Amino acid sequence: MPLVSTKEMFQNAYAGGYAVGAFNVNNMEIIQGIVGAAKKLNSPLILQVSKGARAYANHTYLTKLVEAAVLETGLPIALHLDHGPDFETCKSCIDGGFTSVMIDGSGFSYEENVAVTKRVVDYAHERGVTVEGELGKLAGVEDDVQVAAEDALFTNPDEVEDFVTRTKVDSLAIAIGTSHGAYKFKPGQDPKLRLDILEEISRRLPGFPIVLHGASSVPQEFVRLVNEYGGAMPDAIGIPESELQKAAKMAVCKINIDSDLRLAMTAAVRQYLHENPGHFDPRQYLAPARAAIEEMVEHKIKNVLGCANRC
Ligand code: G3H
Ligand code: 13P
Ligand code: ZN
Repeated sequence: MPLVSTKEMFQNAYAGGYAVGAFNVNNMEIIQGIVGAAKKLNSPLILQVSKGARAYANHTYLTKLVEAAVLETGLPIALHLDHGPDFETCKSCIDGGFTSVMIDGSGFSYEENVAVTKRVVDYAHERGVTVEGELGKLAGVEDDVQVAAEDALFTNPDEVEDFVTRTKVDSLAIAIGTSHGAYKFKPGQDPKLRLDILEEISRRLPGFPIVLHGASSVPQEFVRLVNEYGGAMPDAIGIPESELQKAAKMAVCKINIDSDLRLAMTAAVRQYLHENPGHFDPRQYLAPARAAIEEMVEHKIKNVLGCANRC
């Protein structure tokens, strides 16, 4: 099976009351770890590439690695641009073999967001590529952009019908309390999502796939491991898995996870090098890092997303 768009994937996810995991990829070991888990659990999969990932690893290297994953597994995999900043980046990914793109116009005015999203949709749909838009503003860090918590804005349900109708976008990322990175809540804060806003948005957009960014849970055992083996991470608090499980059963069809993979990988590398100070073959510490990613993704598929055996 070749790379797929997210169209059928999301129709099935919506009807089945589950979400597909969208995991960020930056190198071969990350791709192999994610794909290993999806293959084991017979799960559909979205592999997503940010602007930063393209700058780090190169577009062609990443697309060829993802094509290799499709050949090796036969799984339905979508190759998606994460946080496309402008039309040109989206066009370059569409022309370069991606099957899905996000145009993130959330930093623009509403009318500018509509205009750029519509322009990307027109180009993408002619080529069979699906498009994710965004309404609302998440706090946290993505590429070189940092949004302070006080500037984050929940998605306004009054805007969603107009946005989707005018842009013809295929899915919509919304802001309901998730945020990017490992430091989502302060100690003492109630780490809850505004599922009431999600409910209202899905009432306005029946059957329409919703996307959650910033959905890492930041498992404390990994923060402890990083710190035990020489790291210095301050209190890091993520989204409770119970909140994400509820969202996945509702209209949320795509859940983005990156920070938890970074955490699992870094904990494994730190532990390995601490326990084997004389080793210097990268395969020796990247193999446990890859295994840690596989275990993390397996956990997400089984316990958060509900997308095992959906191929
Ligand atoms: O939302 C951002 C993703 O975690 C990707 O991060 O832009 O550092 O590659 P990046
Ligand atoms: P996390 O930082 O919570 O993993 O979110 C990743 C993300 O939204 C990628 O677009
Ligand atoms: Zn994101």
